[in-house]
Amino acid sequence: MPSSQIPARNAADKVPMLDFSRQYQPIRAEILAAIEQVCDSQRFILGEEVRRFETAAASLCRVAHGIGCASGTDALWLAMAAAEIGPGDAVLTTPLTFFSTVSSILRVGAPPLLADIDPRTYNLDPVSVATALRDRTKSIRIRAILPVHLYGQCADWDQFEQLQREFGVLLIEDAAQAFGATWNGRPAGSLGDLAAFSFYPTKNLSAYGDAGLVTTGNDRFADRASILRVHGMRERYFHEEIGWNSRLDTIQAAVLLVKLRYIEGWNRARQQRANIYDELFMQHGLAEPGPYPERGVVLPYIDPCGTHVFHQYVIRAPRRAALRAFLAERGIGSEVYYPVPLHLQKPFASLGYAEGAFPESERAAKEVLALPMFPELTLEEQQRVVAAIAEFFG
Ligand SMILES: Cc1ncc(COP(=O)(O)O)c(C=O)c1O
Repeated sequence: MPSSQIPARNAADKVPMLDFSRQYQPIRAEILAAIEQVCDSQRFILGEEVRRFETAAASLCRVAHGIGCASGTDALWLAMAAAEIGPGDAVLTTPLTFFSTVSSILRVGAPPLLADIDPRTYNLDPVSVATALRDRTKSIRIRAILPVHLYGQCADWDQFEQLQREFGVLLIEDAAQAFGATWNGRPAGSLGDLAAFSFYPTKNLSAYGDAGLVTTGNDRFADRASILRVHGMRERYFHEEIGWNSRLDTIQAAVLLVKLRYIEGWNRARQQRANIYDELFMQHGLAEPGPYPERGVVLPYIDPCGTHVFHQYVIRAPRRAALRAFLAERGIGSEVYYPVPLHLQKPFASLGYAEGAFPESERAAKEVLALPMFPELTLEEQQRVVAAIAEFFG
């Protein structure tokens, strides 16, 4: 649509990155009733809703076990601890992710190793991983690969399964951003030996506070994760090992149970909005083939093997800082996930990776820009976002 048809902007025309209230209002009565039920039951710790949520979420992910816990960060830790990953076992992952993907590896005492990303999907690149696995100069045993399904799109699982067969490593999914995404028809959460989900309030499936989930098809891992989250305790006050307190709060489980009824529709709405963004960028002649932008923007690449749930709609753009400032002046939200690849974060300096070690991750960190994305985002808001970007690129 030409920009002349876009209604004039006024103070109320802000386009937020995320608007929680638009999701909350239509389900408010159901949410409050679910919370009230927990309060009436007075079962706040591992109450009935936790078990029901674990079962329902695992069933949607088509995996045998779901183990609720306190956050996505804890889910990563629990998954690795359940698989007895520890000192002496390296875990290979991506530098373009949230901090705790890597900090959780250190938390189980294992050294993290990093490999670069695929510049089209921003996910861990299996070719770069294969190189790291074949690098005989590193004496350390690589026990697991931890790909992240970044922005809501599964990492290239066929290739990782191939590497699993070749090198006998465990595959653990960081599925924090990808509830409902699939790879060749298989849901995120069922792809690896274990998976970790986050239900942090900005996630596509979100709680009203911190919450997380481990999923696994392995009975032994499930059993270990379920006791590690309660101080390694199976029978009250009889401890089998040292775990942690990382239970899923019953009120959060009740909220999540309500939201599970809607998640498929919300994910579909995100996909529709992603298509609309794509079309608008093309209509404005702004879309470039990629993988790197020159004068316009590079749109998200969707791997044909998967379904992308668009937890985030992320473009690549030149002059990103100026573009963000331009959008902010017009009341349009945007975010950068993530501005500093993890090998260049101060606490990970000891990993020993210098600048230049992962050129694709470093370049993406300078160019990626997430635009407003949530299921209730309106067409008019999307038109305003794209018109403003078109205006910026002149
Ligand atoms: C990729 C990724 N991994 C791990 C986490 C950690 O989850 P949480 O914030 O629930 O601890 C997040 C979310 O912030 C994430 O996006």
